[in-house]
Amino acid sequence: MTQSIGLISALDGVHVRIEALARQQAAGMALPQLVVAGVEEAAAMLRIMLAAEHKPYASDADLLELWRALVKGAPHWNTIRDNCRELIFYQNCLIAERADALPAQPERMVIHTLRHIYLYLRSHAEQNNGDKVMSDTKMAESNGLRLLIDEPFYEPVANEVRVFMAAWGRRLPVMLKGPTGCGKTRFLEHMAWRLKRPLVTVACHEDLTSSDLVGRFLIEGNETVWQDGPLTKAVREGAICYLDEIVEARTDTTVVIHPLTDHRRHLPIEKLGVEITAHPDFMLVISYNPGYQTVLKDLKPSTKQRFVGMNFNYPPAAVETRIVMKEASMDERRARALVAAAGKARNLKDQGLQEVTSTRALIYAGALMVAGLDALEACTVAIINPQTDDPELAEALLEIFRTFFPEQG
Ligand SMILES: Nc1ncnc2c1ncn2[C@@H]1O[C@H](COP(=O)(O)OP(=O)(O)O)[C@@H](O)[C@H]1O
Ligand SMILES: [Mg+2]
Repeated sequence: MTQSIGLISALDGVHVRIEALARQQAAGMALPQLVVAGVEEAAAMLRIMLAAEHKPYASDADLLELWRALVKGAPHWNTIRDNCRELIFYQNCLIAERADALPAQPERMVIHTLRHIYLYLRSHAEQNNGDKVMSDTKMAESNGLRLLIDEPFYEPVANEVRVFMAAWGRRLPVMLKGPTGCGKTRFLEHMAWRLKRPLVTVACHEDLTSSDLVGRFLIEGNETVWQDGPLTKAVREGAICYLDEIVEARTDTTVVIHPLTDHRRHLPIEKLGVEITAHPDFMLVISYNPGYQTVLKDLKPSTKQRFVGMNFNYPPAAVETRIVMKEASMDERRARALVAAAGKARNLKDQGLQEVTSTRALIYAGALMVAGLDALEACTVAIINPQTDDPELAEALLEIFRTFFPEQG
């Protein structure tokens, strides 16, 4: 652990320099200087990684040689091969005086490439060394952008993967609709992993302002510096931006996403007086729980209609059983019983339950059973108590679980 923290802070040190370089680039730094500095920062990151992995390299090794040393026996490092090649290609173009072979906006590409290498290394460092402290979704976060290294477990239920891929293909904004705890977030994490795109998640709440999304000026020493918000970062870097429970945010906050949802895909940043065009890989995804809404708090039809709507619900019993088994590491017999009981409990919705038993609650109950609680105890604390304050409804729910776990009296 100590070593991984050292690794992460060493990488973050380089990241600070990359961001400083980005500011110099914005201020008009010449391309040759920028490329030299960029290649050096990329090499610095690889040297840090090589040292952490105890891999030898020559003291005069250039960027590609460093990369070759790193990839030896660890093919996943192929992910950053093209990034390293890209930087070397720019360098060679400049040396050969072939500026005509450079892509459009090479300056911005240099910064983008460096950020990508950093993000991958940083995510990898967290993932591999900090496994124990990572969330169960196996996400690694750096600087608001999250890149998923390991595949997040997701059991498809219907055609959702195909539909999402089609929407992604056209970069259409997507709305995931469905009750709490039915797999919306997990699905999106899985898709971000498949697409190898970083993910930025914003949990929306009523105090969320448009500055929280877009960015604000901060005072640093006696300077004011602009700091991009998560939405702006995603728009610039080509990440998937997930606005979770969007209805919770105020309407004036919701309108900032409108220009991103039409074909122009741009984001006006009022405070900077600029409008930025989204990176080609940027995608906007929102989640929405139709059960919660009141007339006062609903998405405006004009907002909803800008999205492709995908309906989610609790999975069919066989699928949900596999999910509970896997996520709670539990045996099939008890997982089946939990899912069957949930099926019955969900029918109580009309009796005044605001929320029904979610897949997440079943997983919690399963995990507590595996941890040694008896079935009814586990179901009470993981499922029933959070769901209702009404003693009669609670008793009705407990009765259902009792029939599926008769051994517990
Ligand atoms: N189809 C699925 N495949 C794998 N895990 C799932 C699936 N659906 C739900 N889960 C599990 O249920 C939990 C809650 O799902 P989540 O995506 O957080 O719900 P939501 O975002 O809809 O509130 C997840 O952490 C995951 O363990
Ligand atoms: Mg969620």
